[in-house]
Amino acid sequence: MRIPHPEYNIWEHTRESLFPLYAQRAKGETSELTCHSQCVEVIGPHLVPGMTFMDVGCGAGDFVWSFHRRGIAIEYHGMDFTRSFIDIGREKIPPEVLPPDRLQLGAAEDLAGRFDVVVCINTMQCFADFREPVERMCRAARKVVYLRSTLDEDEQIRYETDGYLDEGYKNRLRSYFNIFALRDVIAFMESEGFEVSRIVDERTRDGVEMSAGKPFPWKILLGVRRGST
Ligand SMILES: C[S@@+](CC[C@H](N)C(=O)[O-])C[C@H]1O[C@@H](n2cnc3c(N)ncnc32)[C@H](O)[C@@H]1O
Repeated sequence: MRIPHPEYNIWEHTRESLFPLYAQRAKGETSELTCHSQCVEVIGPHLVPGMTFMDVGCGAGDFVWSFHRRGIAIEYHGMDFTRSFIDIGREKIPPEVLPPDRLQLGAAEDLAGRFDVVVCINTMQCFADFREPVERMCRAARKVVYLRSTLDEDEQIRYETDGYLDEGYKNRLRSYFNIFALRDVIAFMESEGFEVSRIVDERTRDGVEMSAGKPFPWKILLGVRRGST
């Protein structure tokens, strides 16, 4: 498994900025993220009760609340390579909302098994390259792959420090904040047997969001496996 050593995983060094927020989200105490409500809306027509659903780079797994609150009975699974986020989710999400063993520690590059729907929201920009993890996600998905990430005309590989990390790591530890080329990702998904459509991102209207001083051109791709409908 390609789980980074915690020392080199930026997410393990967000104790001050993100851990309390992820705990609140896992408890269902925060309002729903627009990227989550939009994903439910877009994939809704493809959902059937009992379907299996994998959220890759799930953080603490709080996306499960979007289905729980709407009474959509899918079997949610989440995987993330940051142990502290998985631990937060297992501890804070009530077991009647999500049994703790539905959250797994794992890297997208090692995703195995089959699920009806695979989503990856706000996570691909962390990948050194998109091909291997997107291949795993496509091969794991029986019907639908939904990706929200930083995508644009041209690829930009960015390996940079982050000013929002804990003391000792702030502006020192580097990580990927990549922008992949839309056409490359679409062509790759098509080569894996998916019909791909672009969906306008509701939060940014496909504009560029600035976060931690960095540009994030969020885009959404919906892949539906050919012959699955
Ligand atoms: C910005 S957070 C997004 C969390 C959640 N999807 C959301 O939208 O709230 C990115 C997450 O991706 C995880 N991550 C980054 N690269 C990963 C990889 N290769 N495999 C699994 N998880 C990864 C990080 O640990 C982090 O939890």
